[in-house]
Amino acid sequence: MQNIAWIDGTFSALSEAKISIEDRGYLLGDGVYEVIRVYNGIPFYLDSHLERFRKSAEAIRIKTPFTIDQMKGVISELIKKSVCTEGYIYMQLTRGSARRDHLFPADVSPTLVMYGRELGKIPEIDAVEPQECITLPDERWLNCYIKTINLLPNALARQKAAEAGAIEAVLYRKGGIVTEGTRSNVFAVIDGKVRTHPATNLILSGISRAIVLEILRESEVPLLEKAFDLQELESASEVWLTSTTMEVNPVKAVDGKLLERPAPGPVCRRLMEAFRGRIAEECLEDVR
Ligand code: PDD
Repeated sequence: MQNIAWIDGTFSALSEAKISIEDRGYLLGDGVYEVIRVYNGIPFYLDSHLERFRKSAEAIRIKTPFTIDQMKGVISELIKKSVCTEGYIYMQLTRGSARRDHLFPADVSPTLVMYGRELGKIPEIDAVEPQECITLPDERWLNCYIKTINLLPNALARQKAAEAGAIEAVLYRKGGIVTEGTRSNVFAVIDGKVRTHPATNLILSGISRAIVLEILRESEVPLLEKAFDLQELESASEVWLTSTTMEVNPVKAVDGKLLERPAPGPVCRRLMEAFRGRIAEECLEDVR
């Protein structure tokens, strides 16, 4: 794969791609982003990602300078030019470059950046290692439904998790209410029902989360989109994380305490398989 970037209409080598020091994404974190997984050279659930991107931009009052169809065209060209078969596309939209001021500048043009990066081929399900998580207070703002590039609380929590040997920090708010991970959504099987935080302003409504919910509904697994607390998490028989880069990732221990069942438990395992089925349907059996 070749690392190619696209900035506002121009392709270049990723290492040579440049944006202004006065870009508001750089100075103020004034922007939004998406990460789209590419399998077999085909972007997975592209429409859902572009729709969320549009909504995030709208929520912070940035006008997307390209239509959804134009962005699709760029992504497909980027995948071709960078020979990206197994990887991801990162895209970021900021309010643009202007003299530093908290106020929105007049007549500023948004900056849209995209680039591709390689990720290894997905491992066989049996090779996916169940992971440990820690729990930490959710110190983010109250608009987590926006996929903003302001990721400092996420990065700090993720770093703490890594230093504790965990793959993810599961975040909780007042009353020990579990919201999500620093870069993933969290599911748990509690009293025989699958639970996950509802898609409110307190979480990012994950595309992988939506796929998992759809699979669960189709297979008539008891499901409650209802928040759970730390005590309930501790009593869960299964826990897993979902995200574009992690897919469905089984969790074996929380805060150093092993779950009741060895991970992946039966529900998680079925989801891992069904999720792979969705990848196969959309990206592997495709003959575009
Ligand atoms: N993270 N919650 C948060 C806070 C996230 O940052 C992400 C994604 C998710 C899962 O969303 P999705 O299933 O659409 O990827 C939930 C991306 C992958 C990242 O920042 O790298």
